[in-house]
Amino acid sequence: MTLDETRSTPVRAPHDLIELLREAAGAGPVAAVQVGGRPCVLVTGPEQTQQVLARRPDVYVKRGHRARLLLGDGLISATGEAWKQQRRLLQAQFTLAGTRRWAQHITAAAERVADGWEAAVAAATPVDVGQDMRLFALDTIWRSLTGTALDDVTRRELDAVDTVVASLPTTAGGAPEPSPAVDAALRQIDTTAHRAIAAARADRARDTSGPSLTLLGLLLDASGTDPRYTDALIRDELVTLLVAGHETTAQTLCWLFVLLDQHPDVHERFLTAYAGTPDPARRDALICALVQETLRLYPAVWLVPRQAARDDVLDGHPVPAGTSVLVCPYLTHRSPVLWPDPERFDPSRFLPGGERPGHPAAYLPFGSGARACLGQHFALQEMVTLLRLLLPVHRPHLAPAPRTAVFGANLRPQGSLRATLGRVRYAG
Ligand code: HEM
Repeated sequence: MTLDETRSTPVRAPHDLIELLREAAGAGPVAAVQVGGRPCVLVTGPEQTQQVLARRPDVYVKRGHRARLLLGDGLISATGEAWKQQRRLLQAQFTLAGTRRWAQHITAAAERVADGWEAAVAAATPVDVGQDMRLFALDTIWRSLTGTALDDVTRRELDAVDTVVASLPTTAGGAPEPSPAVDAALRQIDTTAHRAIAAARADRARDTSGPSLTLLGLLLDASGTDPRYTDALIRDELVTLLVAGHETTAQTLCWLFVLLDQHPDVHERFLTAYAGTPDPARRDALICALVQETLRLYPAVWLVPRQAARDDVLDGHPVPAGTSVLVCPYLTHRSPVLWPDPERFDPSRFLPGGERPGHPAAYLPFGSGARACLGQHFALQEMVTLLRLLLPVHRPHLAPAPRTAVFGANLRPQGSLRATLGRVRYAG
């Protein structure tokens, strides 16, 4: 199929969208597809993905970000020079070394969940894995932003974020007209954000010695030298970090528990290898492989939209200016051309000697190029920290249910993930 022969199948639901894209991807690394009546170009080949995301960022741009309604001018929706400056400010906090300064917050949030699971075992009550993973991811980023644990009131207020995220379109386009419920949710988010900013400002006024030890404090410090950092922009960065930083991590952890539950043989092999590996770094590598394979099969950001700002050519196909381009990590990660036995859950692919494609863009759960995920080291560190506490001790048995994937703003397992906790027979 050529890019000129666009398909005309209408899209009715997010589930249909992935079916439509899967079918289109069969045509090759670059394929034409009609999504919701709009012609789009689907990109699943690693070489072409690199071209879109990494090599030609001036051609393939973010435009009219679907989440601008929620995120305002924060890092995800910012473009051009403003984006460059905002990224520069936050980047230093999220490098591999920079992320270490958030380790105490990550550990405290992980211990909160681990304590909850211990209490559930003692009381012989089930846990809700979905809720616990969401609490963990939200608590981690909230502590890093504010320096304080997430309290129950703020936690309930931040449910408003989910209301707004659920209203966003999956693919691209401008912000939708907010419904009264979304309007109310946005007002709630603003109130919570401005309360946190006021508290951080008061903290900063009390202690002016040295650089700030919270993300919000650093953003407030920036307002002293850069007039662009108004309270409105600080609110946008705060909400951006909350939104980008919690749902993605939470859903990845949920999928990991779903996959382990569905593949007891893999789970058993992991536990045996873990027990037989006293070296902490090698144990972390085993956990990391589980996370990486989960992100291969279920990349939380399963679709990365761009728009062509100028005419270009992708794999020999002309792409006129204005075309919507959809990069799809989900389909790239499951391509039989790239990955041997791609549907199989096999964490050993990510261990030394594991069979993986050579092309760097054959695996892109955190995107690629200048706009790749700011928080990837943070995300990996938080997931490994939590799993280090949970996996050697607890074995969650999920209540039986079909585990269909919901392809919305993020890729998540449908339904609740209630589980009873068994003990791992492991002493290490
Ligand atoms: C498993 C967890 C995560 C996954 C799978 C993930 C995935 C991604 C992807 C694919 C992008 C690129 C989107 C694009 O190119 O349009 C992205 C961007 C971003 N992510 Fe993440 N992310 C995760 C966790 C986090 C965390 C924990 C944070 C913050 C602490 C974060 C902050 C951001 C930000 C701010 C951007 C926008 C960067 C920019 O445009 O300059 N993410 N993420």
